[in-house]
Amino acid sequence: MKFAENDVEVMLSREQLAARVEELGAEITRAYQGKDLVMVGVLKGSFVFFADLVRAVDLPVRTDFLAVSSYAGSTESSGVVKFTQDLSRPITGQHVILVEDIVDTGLTMQYLLENLATRHPASLAVCSLLEKPDRAKVKIDIRFKGFTIPDAFVVGYGLDYDERYRNLPYLGVIKNPR
Ligand code: IMP
Ligand code: MG
Repeated sequence: MKFAENDVEVMLSREQLAARVEELGAEITRAYQGKDLVMVGVLKGSFVFFADLVRAVDLPVRTDFLAVSSYAGSTESSGVVKFTQDLSRPITGQHVILVEDIVDTGLTMQYLLENLATRHPASLAVCSLLEKPDRAKVKIDIRFKGFTIPDAFVVGYGLDYDERYRNLPYLGVIKNPR
């Protein structure tokens, strides 16, 4: 058993997540017809969403990853973002979608967008499974958005609390963090 049943309160079930991810995949498929598309997963939080999303995209897409750390053991974004892994190939002249788990304060995404823009992609768009608008410190244009959620610390479907809970198949709120 992964966790006690009453440990995490379900916010979005695996069925709700799966249905929305299919829709996002279809939207991306329509928007990038005939284009040279690279989908970039922002590790680690997006890995589950990314794996489902790319399979819902019916295009000859290239995939890549980058990793950043911004929290260092805290649940608050400091705004100080560190690249811990860069892309494996250049993105110059290509259509890029940055795939994130959640846009919270927006500081991580703002940093990534500024950084990747200097590499001159043909276009740069954001796809985020979740957005917590109540906590936004900067405005991020999320072209493909899964769900808007209230201000609560969520886990599961790739999102962690201190590196745990990523393997929960649904999105939930921890009732008693331990
Ligand atoms: P931001 O810079 O504040 O927008 O934070 C973005 C990153 O913080 C996300 O990519 C997540 O990795 C992490 N994060 C923000 N909110 C949550 C949450 O509720 N649960 C788990 N991780 C979160
Ligand atoms: Mg993240």
